[in-house]
Amino acid sequence: MLKIEGLTKRFGKLTAIDNLNLNIPEGLKFGLLGPNGSGKTTLLRMITGLIEPTHGKITLFGKWTPTSRMIRRRVGYMPQQTAVYPGLTVSENIRFFGRIYGLSGRPLEDRLNDILELVELGDKKKEVLSNLSGGMVRRVLLATALIHNPPLLILDEPTAGVDPVLRLKFWDWVDLLVKQGVSIIITTHHISEAERSDQVVFLREGKIIQQGKPFDIMKRFQANNLEAAFVRSTNLK
Ligand SMILES: Nc1ncnc2c1ncn2[C@@H]1O[C@H](COP(=O)(O)OP(=O)(O)OP(=O)(O)O)[C@@H](O)[C@H]1O
Ligand SMILES: [Mg+2]
Repeated sequence: MLKIEGLTKRFGKLTAIDNLNLNIPEGLKFGLLGPNGSGKTTLLRMITGLIEPTHGKITLFGKWTPTSRMIRRRVGYMPQQTAVYPGLTVSENIRFFGRIYGLSGRPLEDRLNDILELVELGDKKKEVLSNLSGGMVRRVLLATALIHNPPLLILDEPTAGVDPVLRLKFWDWVDLLVKQGVSIIITTHHISEAERSDQVVFLREGKIIQQGKPFDIMKRFQANNLEAAFVRSTNLK
């Protein structure tokens, strides 16, 4: 589903992603983990075609580059920074993104209602975003990334600043989407949550330092949770 070869991104003298190779099969929950500044968002922005690599190649669905027009409808992206309009209502925000993706009329309204039900915001659909709590805005962001029913969903810290109950719900929704056949790439600083991923990658200074099933990585570091394995691996020189 996603193939990354020799990918490098430099910002001036800083190498944010350093000659990275990665293959992500279809249908997985894939956790991308790493400390602040390790290059997670930079990598996701290259996968979504928002920024260009300095070197290297990204291939999606076996044939397309991220900037291809074919990709736009197939990828949903929930950015780390809020990208919604505070003065518009929940429905208006989600509809806006739906239209960008080429949806309109009945199909858009039907999909909007399904998505609002999924993120449990049906009763808030006429509320303007500036009146919502932070956690509710995160749910709207998830909905905007899902409106066009993309087979690949990229979530950049969807659970940042979200209470523990809603955090679990986010992962339940992710599980539900994976059951429906959606492939998910997700980043989080709540490392223990990522134990629910099928595979994880630990990134440090733009390089992959560990990769595998959460349980196997935990065994590798003789850790009884993924967070301990993460701390041990990122402290290794
Ligand atoms: N547009 C940019 N211009 C210059 N430097 C940038 C730019 N975007 C990212 N960087 C730098 O690249 C490095 C990686 O940043 P990135 O945002 O990818 O990290 P991250 O792993 O997502 O961190 P966090 O966990 O804090 O979100 C950082 O040193 C950052 O300052
Ligand atoms: Mg980031």
